[in-house]
Amino acid sequence: MTKPPICDYEGSDYQKAFWEKGGREYEDAVEAIALRRLLPHAGSRLLELGAGAGRNTPRYKGFEEITLLDYSHTQLEQARARLGDSARYRYVAADAYKLPFAPAVFDAATMIRTLHHLKEGESALRQVSQVLARQGVFILEFANKRNLKAILRYITGKQKWNPYSMEQVEFVELNFNFHPRQIRSWLRENGFSIDRQLSVSHFRVGFLKRHVPLRILKGLDSALQWTGALWQLTPSVFVKSTHIAGAALQEFAFRCPQCGKYPLEPLPADIACPQCGKVYPYQDGIYDFRLK
Ligand SMILES: C[S@@+](CC[C@H](N)C(=O)[O-])C[C@H]1O[C@@H](n2cnc3c(N)ncnc32)[C@H](O)[C@@H]1O
Repeated sequence: MTKPPICDYEGSDYQKAFWEKGGREYEDAVEAIALRRLLPHAGSRLLELGAGAGRNTPRYKGFEEITLLDYSHTQLEQARARLGDSARYRYVAADAYKLPFAPAVFDAATMIRTLHHLKEGESALRQVSQVLARQGVFILEFANKRNLKAILRYITGKQKWNPYSMEQVEFVELNFNFHPRQIRSWLRENGFSIDRQLSVSHFRVGFLKRHVPLRILKGLDSALQWTGALWQLTPSVFVKSTHIAGAALQEFAFRCPQCGKYPLEPLPADIACPQCGKVYPYQDGIYDFRLK
């Protein structure tokens, strides 16, 4: 199988440019509300897929251990600078299509604003199902192609692609929007049962964000998020699902992404696979399991 292309954030100042200076207070605030509603109050080990610079990590309050995974080493360096070193955080540079973890070692996982960059989304969701224990919780955010703006643009002839068709749309290279039904079907086919859906970012419109106070937009979005149970017309949708397949939670161990051997000891040092001999560096507090 050829390796899917990766939307590489290496060297990007995404956190600063997009979130801190990009006028995204509204989006950040309403995503925080959705996460608060969906996250379990407590848990053992949470995997954050596509963690970036750790914008959401402090929100995973009830978890004993959090593994931040991102393909970009520099994003993880920023996350580490922000969150620090502690037994609670593990920083792992790796590909979401080839997760370096033994089966069933997490009891929760999140993937926020990351599926958006995955050309082969279902393949990544399959990987999540392999590392998540039975009854593990998965919170997935995806960019919704069947949103109100896209529907209006389509029926007025301003947009060519059909928001109602099931296939994902790549509107900019390696930026994908998905049909909610496609996401639900991928989740179910990979051993998840869907618990809850929230519609998020109802008012992601420049004019409104500039002229209506943040607390009002935030309050209105918060009041409307539950409608995700009935329809999903917002640009962002959060889905909470439970993994109903797989084994009970196992002790944490890495897995060689090259040959599949596990367990590899989670030592804070370079890790060599005893089967294929591949060496995975550990430097400045970050494990590097990327296959280049
Ligand atoms: C838009 S950012 C979102 C970061 C964070 N979740 C947030 O919401 O602030 C997407 C992240 O996904 C990471 N990413 C993209 N493709 C990936 C892949 N195949 N494996 C692991 N991470 C990937 C990028 O490096 C980037 O940091």
